Amino acid sequence: MRDIIVFESKEAFSRDAAYRFSALAARKEWQNDPFRVALTGGSSPVELYRQLACIPFVDTIAWDNVELYFGDERAVPVDSDDSNFKQAHTLLLSHLPIPDSNIFRIQGELPPEEAAQRYEADLREGFALAAGELPGFDLILLGMGPDGHCASLFPHKPSLHVTDRLVVASEPGLAPFVPRITLTLSVLNAAANVFFMVEGTAKAERVAQILQGPPAPDDLPSQSVQPANGELLWLLDKGAASRLA
Ligand code: 6PG
Repeated sequence: MRDIIVFESKEAFSRDAAYRFSALAARKEWQNDPFRVALTGGSSPVELYRQLACIPFVDTIAWDNVELYFGDERAVPVDSDDSNFKQAHTLLLSHLPIPDSNIFRIQGELPPEEAAQRYEADLREGFALAAGELPGFDLILLGMGPDGHCASLFPHKPSLHVTDRLVVASEPGLAPFVPRITLTLSVLNAAANVFFMVEGTAKAERVAQILQGPPAPDDLPSQSVQPANGELLWLLDKGAASRLA
């Protein structure tokens, strides 16, 4: 099922995302299952990370039951300002009462293909996957780039079409122009919940093409994110929604 919700501001949709994160985490705790989340990079999740790092969320979420993975990473050292892990660590992870063993980062400092293989192995182990099984994330957070990409799945790149891997090395379509490591579409579409968070009029036309335009899977990777048995939620500010019919 797909829902689109429009908010006054990025602060407002980030607050909403934080409450939804908290509710999903509580349900998994009650079910005695870990809450497994894939984080994203870019500017879109910054406010959500700030909010999750503050009260009430920092105190009320059972962080020791949360497992934090990443949807994609840039092939840079972990202390680079371009590292998605560094951003998440600075804004969120370093503030949380979460065991290090619950955090699964992509090793961007390695050659990208090696990092992809290692991360795929981490997923197989963490989710106890049998051959051919996909990891079922409880929540995948995504931003959408101005070209319609998400995670590091860029328009017209071969990584978009990989169906026999969980994680691949991919080519950048936008700055920073460094190789990437990304979950594949198959993994994104096996999630129970996917939240897209998009801000600003600069992305409004692309949002309208993705949500209301004809299918264009090679041009608009984000359009192909349609979880088979999960909930897809687009959280937009007024600017990003301004071209929707
Ligand atoms: C990355 C991200 C990427 C990001 C989009 C949107 O590593 O760059 O994971 O998919 O979410 O590019 O980025 P902005 O939020 O900065 O526009």
